[in-house]
Amino acid sequence: MRFEIVTLFPELFDVLRAGLLGKAQDARAIDIQAITPREFTHDRHRTVDDAPYGGGSGMVLMPGPIAQALDHLDEARGGKPTLRVLLTPQGARFSQAHARRFSELGSLTLVCGRYEGFDERIRGLADEEVSLGDFVLLGGEAAALAVIEATARLLPGVLGNDESAADESHSDGLLEYPQYTRPEEFRGQKVPEILRSGNHAAIARWRRKESLRRTRDRRPDLLETAELTNEDRELLEEIREGR
Ligand SMILES: C[S@@+](CC[C@H](N)C(=O)[O-])C[C@H]1O[C@@H](n2cnc3c(N)ncnc32)[C@H](O)[C@@H]1O
Repeated sequence: MRFEIVTLFPELFDVLRAGLLGKAQDARAIDIQAITPREFTHDRHRTVDDAPYGGGSGMVLMPGPIAQALDHLDEARGGKPTLRVLLTPQGARFSQAHARRFSELGSLTLVCGRYEGFDERIRGLADEEVSLGDFVLLGGEAAALAVIEATARLLPGVLGNDESAADESHSDGLLEYPQYTRPEEFRGQKVPEILRSGNHAAIARWRRKESLRRTRDRRPDLLETAELTNEDRELLEEIREGR
């Protein structure tokens, strides 16, 4: 899958050379191209922003250089389709469902803002707008990195073990159950007996129950939309009764 980024700071994406995403690039499972709209300016100062019409503080990104950067990426892709996503605190909140949908695409183009944000006409160049959450960053790069990482790790061959993404938090609408590794006892806290029992059916039931408990305790809103089986409902009843 190809990830294209339009950003004033392409070097911020060098961090994607580290770890599994670096390996995925070496193995050509993913390709990351970050370009700056400054390349598409024609003045000595390579200006990409200007003061807002109507007055006010800060500078606004001009539409021309970003539009030309997007045209350039389209050409370089040879006309193959992409989904253009604007990173903005005004967008839909990014979720695992976005990551899943994006991971089915051949190409994703992320447009990062800076300063006071985008000239309104830049919005018309994008297919969707995505926000990392209800807070304001200095620029869209940290949000783009999060989108790339959450999406790329769902691609075949990117995680060491393809099953690692299968039953973790948000994969089925619930939070993940508690995990333990060695030592068996740490500062007086023991690994639950059942995880050492070797009884796979009992372990699976315990994990599902703890996943439901954790979701109920920390994110009860998720339980409203998660697909629950009859057994899940029975487990929730047990939790409610303190069993
Ligand atoms: C300082 S912000 C501009 C915010 C803009 N004035 C507004 O109120 O919507 C600069 C850039 O950071 C990025 N950004 C800031 N917060 C973000 C968030 N929560 N999610 C995604 N991108 C964000 C956007 O690309 C934005 O254009």
